[in-house]
Amino acid sequence: MTTDITISLQPHHLTLAEAMRTIIAFDGEGRPIVAFRNGTNYVRGLSGDVLLKRTIAPGQKERRKLSADERQAILAEILHDAHRMIEQIAATVPPEAHDWFKRIQRWDVAGLEEERERFRTIYKPISIVPPDQYRALVLQATEGCSWNRCHFCTFYRDRPFRIHTPTTFREHIRQVKAFVGAGLGLRMAIFLGDANALIIPQPRLRSLLQVIHEEFPIGPTAPLKGIYSFLDIFGAERKTLTDYRELAGAGVRRIYLGLESGDDTVFHQLNKPGSPAEAIEVVQTIKAAGIAVGVILLAGAGGSRFAADHVQHSIDVIAAMNLGPDDIVYLSPLIVGPDSPYLDRLRESASQPLDTAEMMAQVQTLKQSLRTVVAPGTKVVLYHIEEFVY
Ligand SMILES: C[S@@+](CC[C@H](N)C(=O)[O-])C[C@H]1O[C@@H](n2cnc3c(N)ncnc32)[C@H](O)[C@@H]1O
Ligand code: SF4
Repeated sequence: MTTDITISLQPHHLTLAEAMRTIIAFDGEGRPIVAFRNGTNYVRGLSGDVLLKRTIAPGQKERRKLSADERQAILAEILHDAHRMIEQIAATVPPEAHDWFKRIQRWDVAGLEEERERFRTIYKPISIVPPDQYRALVLQATEGCSWNRCHFCTFYRDRPFRIHTPTTFREHIRQVKAFVGAGLGLRMAIFLGDANALIIPQPRLRSLLQVIHEEFPIGPTAPLKGIYSFLDIFGAERKTLTDYRELAGAGVRRIYLGLESGDDTVFHQLNKPGSPAEAIEVVQTIKAAGIAVGVILLAGAGGSRFAADHVQHSIDVIAAMNLGPDDIVYLSPLIVGPDSPYLDRLRESASQPLDTAEMMAQVQTLKQSLRTVVAPGTKVVLYHIEEFVY
């Protein structure tokens, strides 16, 4: 019998494809991780959540997490397709594929949904990581955000801020390792959660990083290349150049900061801690220690009234940071719910949110202008918070 099913066997994932209409990839535990069916992409995270991504019109994408019913229905279809493809090609594949097939075939929807529950006993929800870290292994050295009061940000409202002790952190890591299993091979780095883990006082941070190194080989020649984390500006001002040098020595490769706006008025309207001027200082200290930065700007911040200042002053601040090819500037289009305190602030200052066309125009202006103030090769890219699933 002829078949148009193909298999791609990689060290850490297996992909099945049927006439390029249906493509499904699995991690080393046999769990589906991405699928393409009928023109729609599905990404199943370690958390068990499934993100749908599809183009609905030229330049317009739908991105959303599926509801429980939708998720279970699509997982049933994906598993059905996968099991059918395996049956059709089982006789023709190399012997090493059979172990993969066994791992894939042991999953049903109920089993995948149980994994979801198990995930929730190990992790607090992983609200966000920067886009270049989607394939990192997240370890929650801290839970929540020590500030948690920026008007636009609801990522960590559901939990109090907490720093692990070395003992509880090691327990967390061991549970994560058992849960990820052979899926670890797909992970490229460690991302230290949650919102601003690098504000952990240096002696405690030192011992937590030590625990990570005792649990995983990390370095340029290891599968996990380095350690990455968020930091807010308020916390960042407390670490010295010597502290950052020590972090670089402990494998910290890039630190991400939410600058959001280079304009003082907009920055304070957002209720961010610190200031744009402090952000420049912090970035210079971090870079002097040999650590790269990822700086996030919030497109649309300040609304229509402050748009010109937001754009111009953000460009000025990024220019003053002297960013280079290891650094990244992210543009995150602001998304706010109707009852956000941020909208009240905007109205109080006689401004209003940008509409979709204005937002897209601002993203384009920022992208083009920022590229002229950073060194050649520095990435200036979009950051869609709705595109994230862990
Ligand atoms: C965990 S936070 C940043 C790290 C650190 N806590 C800080 O404030 O510098 C991640 C980023 O997500 C983005 N973000 C948060 N809420 C957002 C929203 N409602 N719309 C768009 N982007 C948002 C912001 O740019 C923020 O800097
Ligand atoms: S933007 Fe950063 S500092 Fe502000 S509440 Fe969110 S996570 Fe915390």
